[in-house]
Amino acid sequence: MSKHKVNVLFVCLGNICRSPTAEAVFRQLLEEEGLTDLIHVESAGTGSWHVGEGVDSRSRLEATKHGIDMTAKVARQVKKSDFDEFDHILAMDEQNFEVLEEMCPDEHHLKLRLFMEYAPRHGFRGVPDPYYGGKDGFAKVFDICRDGSKGLLEELVAEYGLRNGV
Ligand code: 4NP
Repeated sequence: MSKHKVNVLFVCLGNICRSPTAEAVFRQLLEEEGLTDLIHVESAGTGSWHVGEGVDSRSRLEATKHGIDMTAKVARQVKKSDFDEFDHILAMDEQNFEVLEEMCPDEHHLKLRLFMEYAPRHGFRGVPDPYYGGKDGFAKVFDICRDGSKGLLEELVAEYGLRNGV
């Protein structure tokens, strides 16, 4: 976290598939756009089962196909202080959005959004959970994360005037 940056948190259930993919894809986009000094990104899960684990090997494999290395990410659970410290908290699906709404102090509710709002062309409100599915699910998650990250970044650039040296 940084007081001088815009702080973005992606949240799914296990923090081993969808939100780490969104984090890594969004970070790659920041690097491509030269915005890494202005936006800080992390991810977390609402569940605790996988805390301390690395990213799911199937998500890591998909990411390597796109030149992204996710070996450093360690799963963590959402904590109360996240609602103070992050400016934008993106739920990867409606179930996790509801958990975040329950946890979130009233004054921070405007920070909560569904990630899929930024990838409307896919036509659904949640990033499909790939955990118990086949390999195709991971490619789909990656594709959606790329779209949503672009949409989110466009909005942040406009909201904070990031290309004007603010
Ligand atoms: P994620 O995927 O929420 O995208 O990290 C899942 C990972 C683990 C489980 C469910 C979803 N699980 O039930 O253990």
